Amino acid sequence: MALLLNVEDYRRQARRALPRLVFDYIDGGAEDERCLQRNRDALEALPLISECLRDTSKVDIGTGLFGRRWRAPFAIAPIGLAGLVRPRADALLAGAAQAAGVPFILSTASNTRIEDVRNAAPDATLWMQLYVMGERAIAERIVRRARNAGFEALVLTVDVPVSGLRERDLRHGFRVPMRLTPGTVLDMARHPAWLLRLAGGGMPQFANLLPDEDDGAPVSAQTQAALLSRAMDRTLTWESLGWLRKLWDGPLLVKGLLGAEDARRALRHGADGIVVSNHGGRQLDAAPATIAALPAMLDAVGSRIPVLVDSGMRRGSDIVKALALGASAALVGRAPVYGLACDGEQGALSVLQLLAQETERTMTLLGASRVSELGRRHVEMQVPRSHTEHVVHASVPAHGKASIYPAHAAA
Ligand SMILES: Cc1cc2nc3c(=O)[nH]c(=O)nc-3n(C[C@H](O)[C@H](O)[C@H](O)COP(=O)(O)O)c2cc1C
Repeated sequence: MALLLNVEDYRRQARRALPRLVFDYIDGGAEDERCLQRNRDALEALPLISECLRDTSKVDIGTGLFGRRWRAPFAIAPIGLAGLVRPRADALLAGAAQAAGVPFILSTASNTRIEDVRNAAPDATLWMQLYVMGERAIAERIVRRARNAGFEALVLTVDVPVSGLRERDLRHGFRVPMRLTPGTVLDMARHPAWLLRLAGGGMPQFANLLPDEDDGAPVSAQTQAALLSRAMDRTLTWESLGWLRKLWDGPLLVKGLLGAEDARRALRHGADGIVVSNHGGRQLDAAPATIAALPAMLDAVGSRIPVLVDSGMRRGSDIVKALALGASAALVGRAPVYGLACDGEQGALSVLQLLAQETERTMTLLGASRVSELGRRHVEMQVPRSHTEHVVHASVPAHGKASIYPAHAAA
């Protein structure tokens, strides 16, 4: 077994464990994958400034949101079609989240039923992610089922009016239901452990789009695929939040925002939180890095609602950077899925533990013994004027000091 020391090690191991089309579905981004890269570049280019000689004999990386204690300041982001990686992937990820003491967000496009995820992780903090498709009754049913299963927050994803162009998937002929070409058959045959598991669990279906047991005949895979790809409701607007409010009385978050004005709109329309996200670089390839978009959005909403952020988090230090800028928490998407591909629930848990340890070590190095002690002073440097030629993003936070993101990490 390879020595897996960091998320990138898990990623490489996942690449070996999965057929290429499955790995590329998880790993890939939209079009030229510039946004995917931009997320990483911006995080890597942002230095952290330590404060020394502070008592860090006890460091607590826990945080709290919506009345719940999280053992670490991150949650698992919603991942659709994770069942391609392993049967029951959603339940396994929820189990890992429960063991790590962090929330799990179940995708509308999950392959495990809402109720089965709850049964697999009875003590986990579970949130439900919602895509609103053309037929609003589908969304209404999902919200009702999530509430009945004790899901605690609803996360409305708004950055997918249409799916991003994922060229890796197109090159593999990847689609739902899967169309097997000689190339994909060979690829799968080279991964017998994955194939055996899939044979045991069956082809993943969009379990939450199937009718309830007593609701009538099952929907074919073709219909499900059509439902999910064509049928996002493009008439959805900010006013639609009022419709959701009537269905859901718990915390309602809006995921996929990148602009300060949208952050204000979310606040005005009664959102209880926002997730600054570019969908991990899978939607608008020209979108900004989330860590670069974050400060202006935080300044727009102040401390009135929690602001979470995702896209490109691969190290505990990335999470600390987001917290230091003022985010309440981060979401991690691909990282735990790489762990899942390597070693099921245990692999996902190992990645969560790794991220927690890295977060704790980074905070200790910064001299911060609690999340609330992190602040913008940890991410701000006074950069001499002559060094600002390579600036790709410079935001001026409310208190007036420029925060500088150089185009390249300091040489
Ligand atoms: C394979 C895959 C499937 C995803 N499916 C969904 C989804 O169903 N709903 C959603 O809101 N976001 C979805 N996302 C986006 C994630 O929730 C999250 O925003 C993103 O993965 C964060 O970036 P990271 O993977 O770099 O951590 C998906 C991401 C990936 C990689």
